[in-house]
Amino acid sequence: MTGLALNTYVHILFIIVIFCCLIAELMLINDQVSFSTIKRLSKIDGLYGLAAIIVVTTGLLNWMKFGKGYDYYSNNSLFIIKFSLFIVVGLLSLYPTILFAKWKKRHKEKQPEVIRLSHSNKVRKVIMLELGIMAFIPLLAELMANGIDL
Ligand code: HEM
Repeated sequence: MTGLALNTYVHILFIIVIFCCLIAELMLINDQVSFSTIKRLSKIDGLYGLAAIIVVTTGLLNWMKFGKGYDYYSNNSLFIIKFSLFIVVGLLSLYPTILFAKWKKRHKEKQPEVIRLSHSNKVRKVIMLELGIMAFIPLLAELMANGIDL
């Protein structure tokens, strides 16, 4: 029980970190930015990646080891939806990650004072979609943890 509580604490802490990273990225991305903003975006995205790894690891540990048993979760359709939605968020996050890396590489040499970003609106929409899906996942988690299924 203590294992579940502590592991879920770390799970939730790094879910909060993911939310913070996505909101910070959203606030930093504009049509025009400086090179230091691009470097900052890239660092935040790295932290996001690390937090996602910790959320997956602690989630898997709850599923396989600390939680209510492997079958309890595997047979719950809300858990399957929760897991699948997180994979969708992971796939969506590839787009900003690839763009941040491209922006950084493209402007590394000259580092101009003002950089016009390509696809900034699209990347903002993708991040907002990630946030929307992420906001829905805790509801599924609470329902499935309390024995509710479809
Ligand atoms: C690979 C991804 C994930 C896996 C395998 C996973 C798995 C789990 C498991 C097995 C539990 C234990 C539930 C219990 O107490 O019986 C849990 C708790 C929880 N998870 Fe996840 N999770 C994942 C990702 C996420 C994400 C992305 C979020 C939120 C955006 C999230 C939110 C929560 C919350 C809020 C709880 C606490 C539920 C409670 O005990 O009331 N999880 N997770």
